[in-house]
Order: sequence, then C-alpha cells, then structure tokens
Amino acid sequence: MKKVRKAVIPAAGLGTRVLPATKAMPKEMLPIVDKPAIQYIVEEAAASGIEDILIITNRGKGLLEDHFDRAPELEERLAEDPGKAPVLEQIVNISNLANIWYVRQKEIRGLGHAVNCARNFIAGEPFAVLYGDDVIMGPEPVCGQLIRAYEEYGLGAVGVKQVSPADIRKYSSLKVEPLADGRYRCTDMVEKPRPGEEFSLLSILGRCVLPPEIFDILDKTGPGAGGEIQLTDAMKALARRDGMIAVDFVGTRYDMGNKLGVMQAGVEAALHHPEIGEAFREYLRELAKEL
Ligand code: UTP
Repeated sequence: MKKVRKAVIPAAGLGTRVLPATKAMPKEMLPIVDKPAIQYIVEEAAASGIEDILIITNRGKGLLEDHFDRAPELEERLAEDPGKAPVLEQIVNISNLANIWYVRQKEIRGLGHAVNCARNFIAGEPFAVLYGDDVIMGPEPVCGQLIRAYEEYGLGAVGVKQVSPADIRKYSSLKVEPLADGRYRCTDMVEKPRPGEEFSLLSILGRCVLPPEIFDILDKTGPGAGGEIQLTDAMKALARRDGMIAVDFVGTRYDMGNKLGVMQAGVEAALHHPEIGEAFREYLRELAKEL
C-alpha cells in the first residue's frame, strides 16, 4: 500500500459566519493568540509525516503565501537583536514546515468541489484532507491517528466525535458498527441530516484520509445540502461501496468558522501559552468575579 505523503487543506470558503473579520482575509488566517489557524493545521500535517501540502485558496491567497514564505527584511531586523533569536528561529521555521503548494478554486461550489481541485497534485496517491477552519489540539496529531487507521485497514478514514442532537443538523451523521480502540466501521453517512434522517450522533469533524478513487466519485457528485458539492456525499458512496473507518480521535477541536469557536480556541490557547498563560489566568479569575 502507498504511504500517505500528501495533504490538502481547503481554505477557499467565504467565511460568512465570521464577517466582518473575513471580508478581506481568509478565516484560516484568524489568529489563535499569536498563530494563524492554518499554521496549527500545517504543523499537524507535518507532525503526521506529510511532506507536500496543497492549500486550496480563493481570496487572500497572497496573505497565505506570504505567511509560509521567508521574510528577508523581517528576519534581518530580528537578527540584529540577540534577544530576538527565539522569535527569529520561529519565523524561519514556518517556511520549512513542509513543501506548500497553492491552487485556486475558481468558483466556490463546496468542500467536495474544493477537494476535487487537488486531483492532479495528488496524482493517484492516498491523501489526507484537513479542513482549513478546524483546529484540533491534543497530545498526538489527529491526521497521524487517521493515517494509522488507513494503513491498518486499507480503507479511507474519517475523524469523528459525538455531537449534540442540535449540532448534528449542521454536520454529518454516520452509520457505524464498533471495532476496537475508538474505531468504527462506517457503511453509510448523511450530510446535514433532517430530523429522522440521522444514523447516529457521530459526525465527521475536520479530518479524513482518502484513497485516490474519491476523485472519480467526486466527478459524478452533484450538488447536495445547501446546493454545494459535498465531500460527505462522495465519502458516502465510498463508505457504501468499500466501507470506511471512523476514528473517534483524541484531541479537542475548535471550529474557527464560527465566532464562539474562535473565542474558545483563543481563550484555551492563551491559558496554556508559555508567555501570557499565567497573567491571562489571573485576569480571567478577576473577570469571573464580576460575572
Ligand atoms: P465551510 O462550509 O465551513 O466554509 O467549509 P464556508 O463556506 O467558508 O462557511 P460559511 O460561509 O461561514 O458558512 C469548511 C472548509 O472548507 C473550505 C472552507 O474554507 C473551510 O476551510 N471550503 C468550503 C472551500 O475551500 N471551498 C468551498 O467551496 C467551501
């Protein structure tokens, strides 16, 4: 079986739920304390053994490209101050995380359509998809957890979590049978189920590893929920045909596509931040007295 060496990060959505912040900037560039969401995601992919990453872009392409490029003027200035050596190292390292490529999704027609823009880049290999607005923090990169499942079972893998009955309407619902160690065999799924349509409260959250056959399925996938070409609809065909592995992953997921998710990610990252963690905790304690 071919090794999973490539990843796709779709980052071309309009981010209408976090306007006006996303009027000119992709939501994937929203910072969590001092690091843009997409850097967490690229770091997760790199820590999972991914060598080549394709970011699907739309507007704000320049910002994304600049972030993962070298910044000679800034580096020169930081190099003049020995006290800034750790920051300089951090800044240079960003451009060495992985080989990053970009392609534009010419029309914003949904996540499935965005992933289908990666066909030539993927060139017949299995690959990971990391949704650009889902940041997952934890002890072990979730992308790596899914790659392991893919390699063990030889089947596509999706990262799942149990969600509330209210949230299942916004996500997907999976038909599963338990295997071992938080893994399930998935044989069917539905995107944004209407009441009565759900199989379970297990939803795909932000990560999957797919075989290259998904592209032929995506070519035949018409518009689904919301009039968009849904990746879930293509994965549904794959799950029904071959089965997929659902992995109840270890990690906390933050949805950077909605305002509450952005704040939760920021607050929790700030509490654990080596520079400001302690002061921020103190500030929150004081603030909580007034609530
Ligand atoms: P979402 O559906 O959350 O993105 O897609 P959106 O369209 O930006 O959401 P709204 O406007 O706030 O409702 C999940 C991921 O897929 C990407 C998004 O950038 C996000 O990372 N995406 C979505 C694309 O790349 N292309 C698309 O056509 C749709």
